[in-house]
Amino acid sequence: MCGIVGYTGRRQAAEFLLSGLAALEYRGYDSAGIEVVSPSGNLHGVKCAGRVSVLAERCRTANPVGTTGIAHTRWATHGAPTDRNAHPHLDCSGRIAIVHNGIIENFQELRAYLSRAGHKIASDTDSEVIAHLVEDAWEGPARGSLVDALRNACQRLEGSYAIALECADAPGQIAVARRGSPLVLASTEDGAYAASDVTPLAAVSSHVIQLEDDQFALLREDGSISVFDSEGLLVESPTRLDIDWDASAATLGGYADFMAKEMAEQPEAIERLLKDRLDEHGIRLDELSMTGEELAGIDRVYLVACGTSYHVGLIARELIEQWAGIPVFCEYASELNYKEPLVTEHTLCVVITQSGETADTLTAARRMRALGCRVFAVTNVLGSTAARESDGTLYVQAGPEICVCSTKAYTAQMVACALLALRLAFSAGKMGHAEVERHFRNLEALPDLIREVLRRSWQGKRAAALFRRASSALFLGRGVNSTTAYEGALKLKEVSYLHAEAYPAGEMKHGPIALLEPGFPVVAIVPADHVHEKTLSNIQEVIARGASCVAVATDGDEAVASLCEHTLWIPPVPEEMLVPIVAIVHLQLLARYVARARGCDVDKPRNLAKSVTVE
Ligand code: F6R
Repeated sequence: MCGIVGYTGRRQAAEFLLSGLAALEYRGYDSAGIEVVSPSGNLHGVKCAGRVSVLAERCRTANPVGTTGIAHTRWATHGAPTDRNAHPHLDCSGRIAIVHNGIIENFQELRAYLSRAGHKIASDTDSEVIAHLVEDAWEGPARGSLVDALRNACQRLEGSYAIALECADAPGQIAVARRGSPLVLASTEDGAYAASDVTPLAAVSSHVIQLEDDQFALLREDGSISVFDSEGLLVESPTRLDIDWDASAATLGGYADFMAKEMAEQPEAIERLLKDRLDEHGIRLDELSMTGEELAGIDRVYLVACGTSYHVGLIARELIEQWAGIPVFCEYASELNYKEPLVTEHTLCVVITQSGETADTLTAARRMRALGCRVFAVTNVLGSTAARESDGTLYVQAGPEICVCSTKAYTAQMVACALLALRLAFSAGKMGHAEVERHFRNLEALPDLIREVLRRSWQGKRAAALFRRASSALFLGRGVNSTTAYEGALKLKEVSYLHAEAYPAGEMKHGPIALLEPGFPVVAIVPADHVHEKTLSNIQEVIARGASCVAVATDGDEAVASLCEHTLWIPPVPEEMLVPIVAIVHLQLLARYVARARGCDVDKPRNLAKSVTVE
């Protein structure tokens, strides 16, 4: 977790570093810091607990001047989020500074070793040891070469890292290293840039160098960048990626917050994903890199993910089983990592991960691969680790998702899985072209249906009043919409800090019903589907106990409206299985309104980070 940026060139470094940190703040936001090489040849740092805006305020007074600098926004793992533990960390001389994203697993051993050798350790972090190891290397075998000093230090590290290093005695240079944590670089006329992901770089370049594991790079103030392997040999053709979103994609563009903006972007994201997908062979999904015969041979599918992406998996399981007739296991990555999966040589493993960097998901993917599965990634982030390590990748193309709570990636990932399910159904001979096309046309109807729900956002705003003073809420749904209930409850609790739990509606009478009392808020997802009457009975049970019910129902459903305090109306969806992709939008809107009414920062909920890169 944590975001890092670095710059050396003609500009004032602080200007880019602060805007870069703001773009990366979704990765962690409990403390932040910046360190520049000043014109007098010393390091000038500013760091503090709190958000990037607090750091920016401090920088206005401290005015760190210099054209080479590194910076960090932190999500604490080792050591509390205090000024002292904020990055950058310095060596004993105060002339070497590092920022680090990842975890140094052997840091205790290294701290003991460094303390014995006379180093003064100033923080509780695992990261600080890197600065002192570089100090030893710089004073010894690697004097004069920043990259060699970093390479030398990295040889002693166990764990994961993306590191940026600067030294007052090597002005106009930054050295970087990567193992297991992402890092991209941009070479421009104005200078050379480094960042944890492409978001801060979209404004300065349309393509980046993606550093691979165990590679190092030297960034120079003339904008040039050299990449080296672990032996220190020049890498002639480093991996290059085109950035396919413009800089404005990562700005608010007039919206009050990124959650509002990203919810509004859902229709376009789905349209992008569906473009040119239908061909004479059914669904065009070249990203799978599998022949029709190989696809037809798949005997089971493992879906592996965390959090909201796991909820995508639950929907995908229904779609694949119903449409393609292939048995599916859907597993939390963090659980699968500690049990024996039942794989065969014809098992397809699909990892679903917005960021492509979730540690548990990556571990599970590596394990499934080692067991002989073909691993396919459904992800949003270009060049992410999941994409790089998989046999095929379907990018959902939702554009940068900055709000910590996932909205547009959720709906886009569900559509991506629907495409996969149709492709599998066609290859397995379960559907002919006409049937695939019918389902595809239904998918094409989704963007307009979501637009209609977005137009009805006032309904969620009105219903939000019910939750203002509540301390808990219950979400209920049946069939595919039990997952809508899980996801709705997750959205509400993460952005509004209101406890919420979800159950398949039929399970309510087996325990959760004891929670109900007058005024207790219940959200029921009850669209016009084959279990409508059953869910309606559950709503009756809720009302009979005096609880207050908010329903998500299909236009015209007077039976529901007459029972519930509020109804969030969805237009008719042409296919039951696709209702979750429309219904969830009301619950996203509701969660945001409740959070705002309770004074919460919807984009940066406490304790959370966008990519959970620790297990
Ligand atoms: C919730 C949310 C998280 C993520 C989870 C997995 O709104 O965003 O639950 O879904 O941390 O992240 P990815 O999809 O990046 O692997």
